[in-house]
Amino acid sequence: MKNRPSFLDRYRTRKRARRLMESEHSFTGLTNEQVFEKIYADGSWGTDSEGRPWSGSGSHTPHIVHAYVEAVVRFLERLGANLTVVDLGCGDFSVGARIAPAADHYIACDIAPSIIDRNSRLARHGSVAFRTLDLVTDDLPAGDVALVRQVLQHLCNDDIRAFSERVSRTRPYRYLIVTEHIPAAKRFPANVDIPSGSWTRVMFGSGVVLEKPPFSLRSLSRETLCEVREPSYDRDAIIRTVCYRLK
Ligand SMILES: C[S@@+](CC[C@H](N)C(=O)[O-])C[C@H]1O[C@@H](n2cnc3c(N)ncnc32)[C@H](O)[C@@H]1O
Repeated sequence: MKNRPSFLDRYRTRKRARRLMESEHSFTGLTNEQVFEKIYADGSWGTDSEGRPWSGSGSHTPHIVHAYVEAVVRFLERLGANLTVVDLGCGDFSVGARIAPAADHYIACDIAPSIIDRNSRLARHGSVAFRTLDLVTDDLPAGDVALVRQVLQHLCNDDIRAFSERVSRTRPYRYLIVTEHIPAAKRFPANVDIPSGSWTRVMFGSGVVLEKPPFSLRSLSRETLCEVREPSYDRDAIIRTVCYRLK
Protein backbone atom coordinates (compact mmCIF):
# COMPACT_ATOMS: atom_id res chain seq x y z
CA MET A 1 0.00 0.00 0.00
CA LYS A 2 1.18 3.53 -0.78
CA ASN A 3 2.67 5.37 2.21
CA ARG A 4 0.38 8.18 3.29
CA PRO A 5 1.89 11.22 5.03
CA SER A 6 1.29 11.09 8.77
CA PHE A 7 -0.66 13.77 10.60
CA LEU A 8 2.68 15.17 11.82
CA ASP A 9 4.07 15.31 8.25
CA ARG A 10 0.97 17.14 7.07
CA TYR A 11 1.16 19.53 10.04
CA ARG A 12 4.81 20.30 9.23
CA THR A 13 3.98 20.83 5.54
CA ARG A 14 1.22 23.27 6.42
CA LYS A 15 3.51 25.07 8.84
CA ARG A 16 6.14 25.31 6.10
CA ALA A 17 3.50 26.58 3.69
CA ARG A 18 2.40 29.31 6.09
CA ARG A 19 5.99 30.28 6.73
CA LEU A 20 6.61 30.38 2.96
CA MET A 21 3.73 32.80 2.53
CA GLU A 22 4.98 35.02 5.33
CA SER A 23 8.66 34.84 4.38
CA GLU A 24 10.87 36.76 2.00
CA HIS A 25 8.90 35.14 -0.83
CA SER A 26 5.95 37.35 0.09
CA PHE A 27 4.64 39.52 -2.73
CA THR A 28 3.32 42.22 -0.41
CA GLY A 29 3.11 45.63 -2.05
CA LEU A 30 3.55 44.36 -5.60
CA THR A 31 1.00 44.79 -8.38
CA ASN A 32 -0.35 41.60 -9.97
CA GLU A 33 1.88 42.15 -12.99
CA GLN A 34 4.92 42.47 -10.72
CA VAL A 35 3.90 39.36 -8.75
CA PHE A 36 3.77 37.12 -11.84
CA GLU A 37 6.82 38.71 -13.45
CA LYS A 38 8.72 37.94 -10.22
CA ILE A 39 7.47 34.34 -10.19
CA TYR A 40 8.83 33.86 -13.73
CA ALA A 41 12.06 35.80 -13.04
CA ASP A 42 12.73 33.67 -9.92
CA GLY A 43 11.76 30.42 -11.68
CA SER A 44 9.38 29.70 -8.77
CA TRP A 45 7.34 27.25 -10.89
CA GLY A 46 10.45 25.56 -12.27
CA THR A 47 12.42 25.75 -15.51
CA ASP A 48 12.70 23.82 -18.77
CA SER A 49 15.76 21.84 -19.92
CA GLU A 50 17.35 25.08 -21.14
CA GLY A 51 16.83 26.82 -17.82
CA ARG A 52 13.96 29.01 -19.02
CA PRO A 53 11.27 29.62 -16.37
CA TRP A 54 8.02 27.86 -17.16
CA SER A 55 4.42 27.77 -15.92
CA GLY A 56 4.68 24.82 -13.53
CA SER A 57 4.22 21.06 -13.42
CA GLY A 58 0.50 21.35 -14.16
CA SER A 59 1.46 22.72 -17.59
CA HIS A 60 4.05 20.04 -18.37
CA THR A 61 3.16 16.74 -16.65
CA PRO A 62 2.15 14.58 -19.63
CA HIS A 63 -0.85 12.74 -18.14
CA ILE A 64 -2.31 15.98 -16.71
CA VAL A 65 -1.92 17.93 -19.93
CA HIS A 66 -3.06 15.05 -22.13
CA ALA A 67 -6.35 14.57 -20.24
CA TYR A 68 -7.09 18.30 -20.44
CA VAL A 69 -6.19 18.72 -24.11
CA GLU A 70 -8.24 15.69 -25.11
CA ALA A 71 -11.31 16.88 -23.16
CA VAL A 72 -11.15 20.48 -24.42
CA VAL A 73 -10.47 19.55 -28.05
CA ARG A 74 -13.41 17.11 -27.95
CA PHE A 75 -15.59 19.91 -26.54
CA LEU A 76 -14.50 22.39 -29.23
CA GLU A 77 -15.21 19.82 -31.94
CA ARG A 78 -18.74 19.51 -30.56
CA LEU A 79 -19.23 23.26 -31.08
CA GLY A 80 -18.33 23.13 -34.77
CA ALA A 81 -16.39 25.44 -37.09
CA ASN A 82 -15.30 29.09 -37.04
CA LEU A 83 -14.42 29.28 -33.36
CA THR A 84 -12.47 32.00 -31.59
CA VAL A 85 -10.87 30.73 -28.39
CA VAL A 86 -9.46 33.17 -25.82
CA ASP A 87 -6.86 31.77 -23.42
CA LEU A 88 -6.78 34.00 -20.31
CA GLY A 89 -3.51 33.36 -18.44
CA CYS A 90 -1.85 31.27 -21.16
CA GLY A 91 1.51 31.05 -19.34
CA ASP A 92 4.34 29.52 -21.40
CA PHE A 93 1.79 28.33 -23.99
CA SER A 94 2.85 24.67 -23.81
CA VAL A 95 -0.81 23.70 -23.22
CA GLY A 96 -2.37 26.34 -25.48
CA ALA A 97 -0.18 25.25 -28.39
CA ARG A 98 -1.96 21.89 -28.31
CA ILE A 99 -5.46 23.39 -28.24
CA ALA A 100 -4.88 26.15 -30.81
CA PRO A 101 -5.06 23.87 -33.90
CA ALA A 102 -8.67 23.04 -32.92
CA ALA A 103 -9.70 26.72 -33.15
CA ASP A 104 -9.94 29.04 -36.15
CA HIS A 105 -8.63 31.96 -34.10
CA TYR A 106 -6.76 31.68 -30.82
CA ILE A 107 -5.96 34.68 -28.62
CA ALA A 108 -3.41 33.82 -25.93
CA CYS A 109 -3.19 36.40 -23.12
CA ASP A 110 -1.15 36.72 -19.95
CA ILE A 111 -0.44 39.38 -17.37
CA ALA A 112 3.34 38.77 -17.52
CA PRO A 113 4.86 40.76 -20.42
CA SER A 114 8.06 38.67 -20.37
CA ILE A 115 6.18 35.42 -21.01
CA ILE A 116 4.06 36.95 -23.78
CA ASP A 117 7.20 38.38 -25.34
CA ARG A 118 8.87 34.94 -25.24
CA ASN A 119 5.78 33.18 -26.61
CA SER A 120 5.57 35.69 -29.47
CA ARG A 121 9.19 34.99 -30.41
CA LEU A 122 9.20 31.21 -29.98
CA ALA A 123 5.68 30.00 -30.75
CA ARG A 124 4.87 30.38 -34.41
CA HIS A 125 1.25 29.58 -35.17
CA GLY A 126 -0.57 31.35 -37.98
CA SER A 127 -3.92 31.57 -36.20
CA VAL A 128 -2.56 32.62 -32.78
CA ALA A 129 -2.32 36.19 -31.46
CA PHE A 130 -0.52 36.95 -28.18
CA ARG A 131 -1.57 39.79 -25.86
CA THR A 132 -0.46 41.14 -22.52
CA LEU A 133 -3.62 41.53 -20.47
CA ASP A 134 -4.90 41.47 -16.87
CA LEU A 135 -8.12 39.44 -16.78
CA VAL A 136 -9.21 41.34 -13.65
CA THR A 137 -9.07 44.88 -15.00
CA ASP A 138 -8.53 44.94 -18.78
CA ASP A 139 -11.10 44.64 -21.57
CA LEU A 140 -11.50 40.96 -22.45
CA PRO A 141 -11.03 40.00 -26.12
CA ALA A 142 -14.25 38.81 -27.76
CA GLY A 143 -14.60 35.11 -28.53
CA ASP A 144 -16.78 32.00 -28.36
CA VAL A 145 -14.90 30.13 -25.64
CA ALA A 146 -12.57 31.37 -22.89
CA LEU A 147 -10.06 29.05 -21.23
CA VAL A 148 -8.84 29.99 -17.73
CA ARG A 149 -6.52 27.17 -16.76
CA GLN A 150 -4.89 27.13 -13.32
CA VAL A 151 -4.93 30.92 -13.15
CA LEU A 152 -7.66 31.91 -10.64
CA GLN A 153 -6.15 29.51 -8.09
CA HIS A 154 -3.22 31.93 -7.81
CA LEU A 155 -5.35 35.06 -7.25
CA CYS A 156 -6.81 36.64 -4.12
CA ASN A 157 -10.58 36.58 -3.62
CA ASP A 158 -11.11 40.27 -4.51
CA ASP A 159 -9.61 39.70 -7.96
CA ILE A 160 -11.51 36.47 -8.62
CA ARG A 161 -14.74 38.16 -7.51
CA ALA A 162 -14.13 41.12 -9.85
CA PHE A 163 -13.59 38.70 -12.77
CA SER A 164 -16.60 36.55 -11.87
CA GLU A 165 -18.94 39.54 -11.46
CA ARG A 166 -17.86 40.98 -14.80
CA VAL A 167 -18.33 37.67 -16.60
CA SER A 168 -21.74 37.13 -14.94
CA ARG A 169 -22.85 40.64 -15.96
CA THR A 170 -21.42 40.97 -19.48
CA ARG A 171 -21.33 37.30 -20.61
CA PRO A 172 -18.46 37.91 -23.04
CA TYR A 173 -18.25 34.24 -24.11
CA ARG A 174 -20.67 31.44 -24.91
CA TYR A 175 -18.59 29.12 -22.75
CA LEU A 176 -16.10 29.68 -19.94
CA ILE A 177 -13.84 26.69 -19.25
CA VAL A 178 -12.13 26.95 -15.86
CA THR A 179 -9.47 24.59 -14.49
CA GLU A 180 -8.62 24.63 -10.78
CA HIS A 181 -6.44 22.59 -8.44
CA ILE A 182 -8.72 21.70 -5.52
CA PRO A 183 -8.85 19.19 -2.65
CA ALA A 184 -10.04 15.73 -3.71
CA ALA A 185 -12.51 15.48 -0.80
CA LYS A 186 -16.19 15.76 -1.77
CA ARG A 187 -16.68 18.52 0.79
CA PHE A 188 -14.07 21.14 1.58
CA PRO A 189 -14.14 24.82 2.60
CA ALA A 190 -14.30 26.56 -0.79
CA ASN A 191 -12.73 29.92 -1.62
CA VAL A 192 -10.60 30.53 1.46
CA ASP A 193 -8.81 33.82 0.74
CA ILE A 194 -5.06 33.94 0.02
CA PRO A 195 -2.80 36.71 -1.28
CA SER A 196 -2.06 36.48 -5.03
CA GLY A 197 1.13 34.48 -5.64
CA SER A 198 2.74 31.23 -6.72
CA TRP A 199 0.87 29.15 -4.12
CA THR A 200 -2.69 27.80 -4.18
CA ARG A 201 -5.46 27.34 -1.63
CA VAL A 202 -4.83 23.57 -1.58
CA MET A 203 -2.12 24.22 1.02
CA PHE A 204 -4.96 25.22 3.37
CA GLY A 205 -7.32 22.44 2.30
CA SER A 206 -9.33 24.81 0.11
CA GLY A 207 -9.83 25.52 -3.59
CA VAL A 208 -11.61 27.90 -5.94
CA VAL A 209 -15.21 26.97 -6.79
CA LEU A 210 -16.45 29.77 -9.00
CA GLU A 211 -20.17 29.17 -8.58
CA LYS A 212 -19.93 29.37 -4.78
CA PRO A 213 -19.78 32.54 -2.61
CA PRO A 214 -18.17 35.00 -2.58
CA PHE A 215 -17.83 34.61 -6.40
CA SER A 216 -21.23 33.11 -7.24
CA LEU A 217 -20.66 32.96 -11.01
CA ARG A 218 -24.03 32.90 -12.81
CA SER A 219 -24.25 30.41 -15.67
CA LEU A 220 -26.95 28.59 -17.64
CA SER A 221 -25.35 25.19 -17.05
CA ARG A 222 -22.20 23.57 -15.70
CA GLU A 223 -20.42 20.46 -16.95
CA THR A 224 -17.24 18.81 -15.63
CA LEU A 225 -15.02 18.10 -18.65
CA CYS A 226 -12.17 16.31 -16.88
CA GLU A 227 -10.54 15.54 -13.55
CA VAL A 228 -7.00 14.36 -12.87
CA ARG A 229 -5.78 13.29 -9.44
CA GLU A 230 -2.66 15.26 -8.50
CA PRO A 231 -1.54 15.50 -4.84
CA SER A 232 -0.38 18.92 -3.76
CA TYR A 233 1.24 20.15 -0.51
CA ASP A 234 1.02 16.52 0.73
CA ARG A 235 -2.75 16.59 0.29
CA ASP A 236 -4.98 14.46 -1.87
CA ALA A 237 -6.06 16.84 -4.64
CA ILE A 238 -7.51 16.95 -8.15
CA ILE A 239 -7.20 19.26 -11.12
CA ARG A 240 -10.78 19.78 -12.28
CA THR A 241 -11.91 21.39 -15.51
CA VAL A 242 -15.45 22.79 -15.53
CA CYS A 243 -17.29 24.27 -18.49
CA TYR A 244 -19.86 27.00 -17.71
CA ARG A 245 -22.37 27.92 -20.38
CA LEU A 246 -22.85 31.69 -20.20
CA LYS A 247 -25.27 32.37 -23.08
C1 LIG B 1 0.11 28.39 -13.38
S1 LIG B 1 0.20 29.38 -14.79
C2 LIG B 1 -0.89 28.49 -15.90
C3 LIG B 1 -0.58 28.78 -17.34
C4 LIG B 1 -1.47 28.09 -18.39
N1 LIG B 1 -2.86 28.49 -18.24
C5 LIG B 1 -1.34 26.60 -18.31
O1 LIG B 1 -2.25 25.94 -17.83
O2 LIG B 1 -0.29 26.08 -18.73
C6 LIG B 1 -0.81 30.81 -14.37
C7 LIG B 1 -0.65 31.94 -15.36
O3 LIG B 1 -1.66 32.93 -15.10
C8 LIG B 1 -1.10 34.20 -15.34
N2 LIG B 1 -1.93 35.20 -14.64
C9 LIG B 1 -2.01 35.40 -13.31
N3 LIG B 1 -2.86 36.41 -13.03
C10 LIG B 1 -3.33 36.87 -14.21
C11 LIG B 1 -4.23 37.92 -14.58
N4 LIG B 1 -4.80 38.71 -13.64
N5 LIG B 1 -4.50 38.11 -15.88
C12 LIG B 1 -3.90 37.33 -16.83
N6 LIG B 1 -3.03 36.33 -16.54
C13 LIG B 1 -2.74 36.09 -15.25
C14 LIG B 1 0.31 34.08 -14.81
O4 LIG B 1 1.19 35.06 -15.30
C15 LIG B 1 0.68 32.65 -15.28
O5 LIG B 1 1.29 32.69 -16.54
